Amino acid sequence: MPDIRRFDVRAPSRTYPVVVGPGALDELPALLRETGVRGRLWLVADAAVERRYAPRLIEALREAGYLVELQTVPGGEESKSLAQAAALYDWLLAGRVERGDALLALGGGVVGDLGGFVAATILRGIAFVPLPTTLLAQVDASIGGKVAVNHPRGKNLIGAFHQPRLVVADTATLASLPPRERAAGWAEVIKAGMILDAELFALLEREVEALLRLAPAPTAAAIGRAMALKAAVVSEDEQESGRRAILNYGHTVGHGIEAATRYARYLHGEAVAVGMVAAASIAVELGLLAPEAAERQNALLTRFGLPIQVPEADAGAVRAAMTLDKKAVAGRLTWILPTAIGRVTICRDVPEVVVDRALARVLGPG
Ligand SMILES: NC(=O)c1ccc[n+]([C@@H]2O[C@H](COP(=O)([O-])OP(=O)(O)OC[C@H]3O[C@@H](n4cnc5c(N)ncnc54)[C@H](O)[C@@H]3O)[C@@H](O)[C@H]2O)c1
Repeated sequence: MPDIRRFDVRAPSRTYPVVVGPGALDELPALLRETGVRGRLWLVADAAVERRYAPRLIEALREAGYLVELQTVPGGEESKSLAQAAALYDWLLAGRVERGDALLALGGGVVGDLGGFVAATILRGIAFVPLPTTLLAQVDASIGGKVAVNHPRGKNLIGAFHQPRLVVADTATLASLPPRERAAGWAEVIKAGMILDAELFALLEREVEALLRLAPAPTAAAIGRAMALKAAVVSEDEQESGRRAILNYGHTVGHGIEAATRYARYLHGEAVAVGMVAAASIAVELGLLAPEAAERQNALLTRFGLPIQVPEADAGAVRAAMTLDKKAVAGRLTWILPTAIGRVTICRDVPEVVVDRALARVLGPG
């Protein structure tokens, strides 16, 4: 398996391996043994993904001597609910789950967050192994140990920090992912390059055509690198107090766009892409970033099929939603602003007129 990469995440509460690349799921039985998982395996799978990838996986696990139980969950954000969690608790308890068992989550961030939350809470916590099958889940949701379900009052309001035992990201599964979901995932990879890694950014620029067709070697390299960057940041800051905030590059405006359009119109990665454009434009106006660097970012987003403007979103509504965001401290917005490709700074005093001008560049007049 020449294109498979592996690295360790050193979180304060646990160190665990991440294995990424085409065909990585074939390694799962050996990896589970290696990481000390010996009990029963409770596989929670996104219904859309289960048909494609679960039968072969279950067969290989059973051949390796594991007892495997399977439960499917409907795809979509609505599944990140207490009701779905309760259904999984019923399934686990009826089957007599034990502390030495492991819960495996095969699917995107929805199944990962839901499965992780159930793993964190059943019997006060059992081993959790995300098997992410969307690009977003591979580079973002599966790393860092944040697990949650939604509440009618808001997203991710009920959750925990529960580090995985192991993460296995098979990049071959991305072949069946709809193009829009794939592009939204690339936004997170471009973000990782912009905030921390000029080399990753240059790799994305150089290999864009190969990455768009998921050529195995550059895909494993780019995704592995983005995962490792997120892992490095969250290892330093597991409970999200300081440095982890840089991962929110593009999120100040991005969250505003998502909230103002009721999370229905744009995918998270699309909103973050536009948010990155707005943040870079602020940085240029404040003299922190060279205009050419902002242009390189925006050109790369476009090449990966991402929007850099959303004229359908109303600037006033986005502005209002930004101020209500839970990450605003005492009403003041936190901005992650790039100072070069691969470098950002945290800024809490961007003048309102500068923000308004940036919003006017990426949003509609309302
Ligand atoms: N825990 C974290 O740190 C963290 C970070 C970022 C996002 N999230 C969460 O992740 C969720 C979004 O994740 P997502 O974008 O993966 O969405 P998702 O899980 O809803 O998956 C997107 C769609 O793709 C389908 N799908 C998944 N894998 C597929 C494949 N290989 N082939 C074909 N179709 C496939 C799913 O059925 C779904 O319809 C949100 O709930 C968000 O809050 C969590």
